[in-house]
Amino acid sequence: MSYKENTEYFVIKENPIILGIETSCDETAVAITKGGREILADEIISSATEHARFGGVVPEIASRAHTEAILTATERALKNANLTMEDIDAVAVTKGAGLLGALLVGVSFAKALAFSYNIPLIPVSHIRGHIAAAYLADKGLEPPFITILASGGHTAIVNVKSFYEHEILGQTVDDAVGEAFDKIARVLGLKYPGGPNVERLALNGQNVIKLPKMLGNNYQGSEFDFSYSGLKTAVINYVHGETQKGREVACADVACSFQHAAIDVLIDKAFNALKLTGYKTLAVSGGVGANGYLRESLKVRAEKENIKLILPEKRHCTDNAAMICAEGYLQYKAKNFADLTLNAQAVVDGI
Ligand SMILES: Nc1ncnc2c1ncn2[C@@H]1O[C@H](COP(=O)(O)OP(=O)(O)OP(=O)(O)O)[C@@H](O)[C@H]1O
Ligand SMILES: [Mg+2]
Repeated sequence: MSYKENTEYFVIKENPIILGIETSCDETAVAITKGGREILADEIISSATEHARFGGVVPEIASRAHTEAILTATERALKNANLTMEDIDAVAVTKGAGLLGALLVGVSFAKALAFSYNIPLIPVSHIRGHIAAAYLADKGLEPPFITILASGGHTAIVNVKSFYEHEILGQTVDDAVGEAFDKIARVLGLKYPGGPNVERLALNGQNVIKLPKMLGNNYQGSEFDFSYSGLKTAVINYVHGETQKGREVACADVACSFQHAAIDVLIDKAFNALKLTGYKTLAVSGGVGANGYLRESLKVRAEKENIKLILPEKRHCTDNAAMICAEGYLQYKAKNFADLTLNAQAVVDGI
């Protein structure tokens, strides 16, 4: 029987051992979970330092780095979990969105494993993966809940109605919040990846620079939408203005003021969404979820408003493969398997 015909007959296990692969950007990540939420191994080999001197990810360098690292990451994961490939019940892989060449490395590798060991191949949406990181943080978590999706390419308030139904209540109309962090980092002369460096600098500054509120009163779209391009431009203009006047830029104050402006609005809108839906649980997903100011502010507000807060570990906010296993497990249960014609997708509609 061909692999394609086999996909109909794979036996669905209660607690499958899933090997997950994530290669959408500059992290080559391989993880192994049991039953979706118990992490047996969680490996990441990052090529971030190779991109730092260019100020951002260079797709060709990322693809080559994945090719070099994927076997090592997989071998390390199996060794740390004390397993062999014969123990793996299914392979989950990020199919998109992301850098096409980078995704193709993971997808091709996953196809080869699935074919060789005759096990299911589970295509996973990268963004659904980010959202599913919440299931790793709270082993008993079940929808419904609201998640703040705040990453390098996405910013949205998402209503997670069920394990399989996600409604975007509002999203950015231009830049993503992580992208704004990265751009502000550049203006301040900080290295890639910008987010953690802006956060570090902000610790020495104060929120004293007045920055514009996003989306004025005349905005016609969803009350949960965001816009980061105006904020970004205001910060850039402020820095250039100070420089032209011959004044020393108070970089730490700029970082701190920007961080407040970028994050406070995420928190306000998330709590408005909780009010709207009547839900009592809020999760965080995506790289900006690793931001300390966001995490601490959320803790204070959640306690005050009696909301259960799910904060994935910082390493599970940025790109990782454990989140791909968590979402892969849900797709495994729904038997959403691919055959060997699976292709990578640079862009995925919706989430
Ligand atoms: N501590 C932090 N504070 C603020 N931003 C951060 C922090 N850590 C990471 N980020 C930001 O998170 C982003 C990376 O997150 P993530 O890996 O989720 O994004 P991505 O994979 O590039 O995009 P997407 O997931 O939308 O496709 C970067 O923009 C980075 O600057
Ligand atoms: Mg990501």
